[in-house]
Amino acid sequence: MCGIIGYVGNEECAPILLDGLRRLEYRGYDSAGVAVHDGQELRVLRAAGKLTALGDALGRNPVHGATGIGHTRWATHGKPSEHNAHPHVSGNVAVVHNGIIENHVELKTELKASGRVFKSDTDTEIVAHLIDLALGRGLELFEAVRETLKVLRGAYAIAVLSKDDPSRIILAKNASPLVLGVGDGVMLAASDVPALLSHTRDVIFLEDGDLAEIRREGAKIVRVDGGPVERPVTRITWSLMQAERGGFKHFMLKEIHEQPRAIEDTLRGRVNLDEGGLEAGEMGLDAETAKKIRRVVFLACGTSYHAALHGRYLLESLARVEAVAELASEFRYRDPVVGEGDLVVAVSQSGETADTLAAAKEARERGARVLAVVNVQGSAIARAAHGTLYTHAGPEIGVASTKCFTAQQAALTMLAIHVGRSRGALSVEKGRALLQELVEVPAKMRETLAGARHVEGIARSIVHARDALFLGRGLSAAVALEGALKLKEISYIHAEGYAGGEMKHGPLALVDRDMPVVCLLPSDSTLEKMLSNVQEVRARDGVVIAVLDEPSVARDIAAHTIVVPRAAEAVSPLVTSVPLQLLSYYVADHRGTDVDQPRNLAKTVTVE
Ligand code: G6P
Repeated sequence: MCGIIGYVGNEECAPILLDGLRRLEYRGYDSAGVAVHDGQELRVLRAAGKLTALGDALGRNPVHGATGIGHTRWATHGKPSEHNAHPHVSGNVAVVHNGIIENHVELKTELKASGRVFKSDTDTEIVAHLIDLALGRGLELFEAVRETLKVLRGAYAIAVLSKDDPSRIILAKNASPLVLGVGDGVMLAASDVPALLSHTRDVIFLEDGDLAEIRREGAKIVRVDGGPVERPVTRITWSLMQAERGGFKHFMLKEIHEQPRAIEDTLRGRVNLDEGGLEAGEMGLDAETAKKIRRVVFLACGTSYHAALHGRYLLESLARVEAVAELASEFRYRDPVVGEGDLVVAVSQSGETADTLAAAKEARERGARVLAVVNVQGSAIARAAHGTLYTHAGPEIGVASTKCFTAQQAALTMLAIHVGRSRGALSVEKGRALLQELVEVPAKMRETLAGARHVEGIARSIVHARDALFLGRGLSAAVALEGALKLKEISYIHAEGYAGGEMKHGPLALVDRDMPVVCLLPSDSTLEKMLSNVQEVRARDGVVIAVLDEPSVARDIAAHTIVVPRAAEAVSPLVTSVPLQLLSYYVADHRGTDVDQPRNLAKTVTVE
C-alpha cells in the first residue's frame, strides 16, 4: 500500500524524502512523488514506476528546501501514471494520502458542479480541493484540514503542505497508519517506523481521529472533533541495520535466514519450562479467563491465515477447545455468530490489514474477547484487541511473508500450550515436553538452512514448470497451502496446495510427468496415509519432491528428497516450512522475478 513521508527540519529535504520512501518500498507501489517548499513556491515532482524514476526526475530538476512531503502510490483509483501520482495540488496546497475515500463519487460530483477542475483520476485530489475551498472561506490551514476531514468517509492517512507556510506539515489519520518521528530540531512523519530510523528512534503513533501539526520544534496533536490529546513517545529498539538487507541478495532470503532468531526472540522470556507453561501477561488471558473460553475463532488473511490454520489445529488437539480459522475478508460480511465466550485471535504480521482489523473490531463489538498476534508494536490490530501476543520477528520487508509466518506458528503453538495447561487438558510434563520441542526449533531450522544449496539445485530443475502441487495432511496441510502460495506469489508459477486426501477428488487429473508435486512427509500420525497419496502421484508420473525426516521413507517414489531434522508433530511445520520457502525463493530468483516486490502485490493491505 501507499507510503507517506514528511520532513520539517534544517537540511535539504529532497534526499531525505527519497530515502524515507525507499524504506517504505516494501509496502508495494507503482508511482512516487514529492512536494518541497523552496522558500517561495511548492515544487512538485512525480514519476510513474520505481523510485529510481523519481530520483532521475530530481536529478534533472533539483529542488531545494527544508520542508517537504513524499509518497509512494499503490493504485486504487486511477491507473498507475505520473498524473495520478501524489502529491496532488489544488491552489496553494499539496496533499499525499494513503487509503480510500469511500464517498469520493458524491464529493467529486459536488466539486465539479461548483466549477472545480480535476487533473487526476484519484480520490485524493478531492481532499486537496476541499482544503483549498476551506482556505478560501478564510480558515487557517489547520482548521481547513479539520473541516475537510469532517466530510470524508473511509480510510486515510494524509499529509498536507501549504505554499503559504513552510514551517509546518499537517497530518491526519483514520484507519491507515501514520507515525511521527521526534528529532532534535527536526520532526518527521511516515507510514512506518523504518522510514524514520535514520533520523530518530523516538516516535509517536497517531490514533484514528487524530489531527496533528509538525514543526521543527515539535508536534501538536488534537482530535479531529475535539481538543488536544497527549500521545506517548515510544522508543524504538529496532536498528536500521535490522531493516536493511545485510549482505543477502534479497530481503526475502535474508528473512528466511533470520527465522531461527525470530523464533528465539518470540519465545524469549515467555517459556516457563518448570511449569510447562507460559509467562505472557500481555495476552490478558489468565487461567480463569482461559477456562471460560467456549470457542476460539482465528481470523487472518493470506499467509497469516495459514498460520491461523496451524493454531486452529493445535487449539483443538492440545487444548481440547472447539476452534475455527476463517478468512477475515469473508467472516465480516456474513453476519457471523460470534460473541461472549469466544476468543477471537486476529493473526497479522503488519497489524494493519484492513479486513482483519475490521473483523476483529466487529467481533469485539459483539462481545468476543480479542487477542492480537501481530508483529508490529502499536499497530492498529494490536490497539483494537484486549490483549496481544507479539511475534518478535523484527521488520519484514519482503512482500511475501516468511519469518513472520513461522514466528506466528511459534506464537500460536505457545497459545495452544497455554490454553491447554490453563484448562487442564495438558499435564505439566506434556506442556514441558512441547515447550522443549519449541525451544529446539531454531537449531533445527539452522540445520535445514545449511542445506539451502541442495534446495537450490532442486529449484533449478523445476524453474520451467507451468504448474505445481503441494500436498500435506494434518498440520502439514497448512504448510502445503503456504508452500503453494509462496511459489505462486513470487515466481508466478501456478501452484495449488491440497490436503493429501483430496488428491483423488480432482487434482490427480492434472498430474503428469511435467508436474512437480511437493509432498510433506514428516514422521507423524499422517505419514502412512500420505505415502499412499504420494504413490498415486507417482503412478501418474508426477515428479515427487519429498520433504521428510527419514530418507528411507520415500526411497522408491521421490525424484528429489529434502531431509530435515525430526521434530514433534506439533512443531514440525515450523521446520518443514523452511525448505518450501527456499524452494520458492530460488525458483523465483532463477526466473528473474522481482522477488521482494512481486507484481500486483502489496505488503500491507490497508484496503478491503
Ligand atoms: C499481503 C502480504 C502477505 C500477507 C497478507 C496478510 O497479501 O503480501 O504476505 O500474508 O497481506 O497480511 P498480514 O499483515 O495481515 O499478515
